[in-house]
Amino acid sequence: MTLPVRPLRLLRGLRETRVDRVDPDAMLLDWLRAGGGHGTREGCAEGDCGACTVVVGELDGERPVLRAVNSCIRPLSSVDGCAVFTVEDLAAPDGALHPVQQVMVDHHASQCGFCTPGFVMSLFALYHADGGPPAALSREQAQAAVSGNLCRCTGYRPIIDAVRALPAMPPRPFDFPALAAGLAALRDDSGARFEGAGGTVWRPATLAQALACRAARPDALVVAGATDVGLWINKQHRRPTETLDLGGVTELAAVTRGAEGLTVGAGARLTEAFAALAADHPAAAGFLERFAGRPVRNAGTLGGNVVNGSPIGDSMPLLIALQARLVLASARGRREVPIDGFYTGYRRTLLQPDELLVAIRIPPAPSGLQVHAWKVSKRFEDDISAVCVALALRREAGRIVHARIGVGGMAAVPSRAPRTEAALEGAPWSLATLEAAAQQLRDEFTPLSDMRASAGYRRAVAGNLLLRLWHETEATSPPLHVLEPSP
Ligand SMILES: Cc1cc2nc3c(=O)[nH]c(=O)nc-3n(C[C@H](O)[C@H](O)[C@H](O)COP(=O)(O)OP(=O)(O)OC[C@H]3O[C@@H](n4cnc5c(N)ncnc54)[C@H](O)[C@@H]3O)c2cc1C
Ligand code: FES
Ligand code: FES
Repeated sequence: MTLPVRPLRLLRGLRETRVDRVDPDAMLLDWLRAGGGHGTREGCAEGDCGACTVVVGELDGERPVLRAVNSCIRPLSSVDGCAVFTVEDLAAPDGALHPVQQVMVDHHASQCGFCTPGFVMSLFALYHADGGPPAALSREQAQAAVSGNLCRCTGYRPIIDAVRALPAMPPRPFDFPALAAGLAALRDDSGARFEGAGGTVWRPATLAQALACRAARPDALVVAGATDVGLWINKQHRRPTETLDLGGVTELAAVTRGAEGLTVGAGARLTEAFAALAADHPAAAGFLERFAGRPVRNAGTLGGNVVNGSPIGDSMPLLIALQARLVLASARGRREVPIDGFYTGYRRTLLQPDELLVAIRIPPAPSGLQVHAWKVSKRFEDDISAVCVALALRREAGRIVHARIGVGGMAAVPSRAPRTEAALEGAPWSLATLEAAAQQLRDEFTPLSDMRASAGYRRAVAGNLLLRLWHETEATSPPLHVLEPSP
């Protein structure tokens, strides 16, 4: 299998730009800064601080969509066919600030200014998400919009005030038709191969090309949103000489519903995948919002989370509770496996060297299925789980007739808890049942102690989450969740 060698093509703002040499480990941030775009900052180089936030424009069908992403962990190859907007693109030709910049000035929301370009780019995506200025923003919506941006000196009160004042700012038009036309002109179904001094990037445009590439180059590092891979490159200094960049395969990004339930393409961004999951299971919406910050969810994929297989990955416990199945494909054909049988050891899976994960299937929920999911981490936002528990439960006539539990942080792999499920199924819905199940869940696993939590804490808190279920459902005592944002 080969793909044609050509330069990478993107829109910088709305102007077509070509890049002749692209290395497999080249990041968008480095390319922007090397080209003089010093407004985009590097803070952490691991997707955590938001100083490097830029806005990427892509076509969703025929509709151009703007998304804030972290350029520090965004491979340069991944913006082929996209538009990239940075803080340098915001002010009008006469120097008038964009409303998202002006509102930060008006509210004294910048002190040293290091984080400010990142904040304004998150706001730029928010401002134009529905075409023009957003409608009224609650405090929670304002916080969510900048959930991937950290500020070390101004303090968040003026920043959140600035975000909430955006709807009152004067409108600033954005040329969406020009963006759509520019992106359409870059469309290329042939796929591409980028060559650089350090190696080759394979960037297929179709699933068939991707599978053929995978078969021919089983050692190439598969890259989707690169929110894990980007850290391996920046922080562990891994230097892949060949990558297979799946970001151009639109078939992999589809989210569809049918008789077999919800099918989420492995390449669907977490933002879209979680929106579909939350629509079916609204009780899990708050849990899904706690996965990273918005720019990471705008780039990372559900497939990447599943294949990475981190024992503290957040989507897998929920997918286990929902009895998701994984569609694996190679040039030889397709097969489907249950997610709880996918992990064979610490970060090891059933995937064969020539296979890709192509979709995650979530069967239709039987009527009355209650879904609950909790993430316990040191910080409320943008932090990694110490423990994660997801539970799908169905009750009939005062008895639990179905229980499926997925846990993270309790073993070397994301796991199902069959003994705890057995303690619940058939038992009456009562505090005594939940207490027995909580003890069972504590006994069922032997977690590790690490910098996030001790083994004892993990076991205690996992069981307590089942007790929390009782208290939240029966409201016999105030909810244990105390991190309510102030009005
Ligand atoms: C700041 C920050 C916060 C984060 N917070 C969280 C969090 O709260 N919870 C959490 O669970 N994770 C978190 N992550 C981790 C990461 O965002 C997720 O694991 C994400 O879903 C990975 O998806 P990706 O598309 O970026 O994967 P990539 O980094 O592109 O790939 C990850 C792995 O999957 C493989 N892969 C990807 N797609 C396929 C495919 N279709 N077929 C075969 N192999 C494939 C790659 O080869 C690689 O081994 C965070 C990351 C960052 C940087
Ligand atoms: S530099 Fe911190 S998120 Fe990119
Ligand atoms: S203004 Fe200094 S870090 Fe935010």
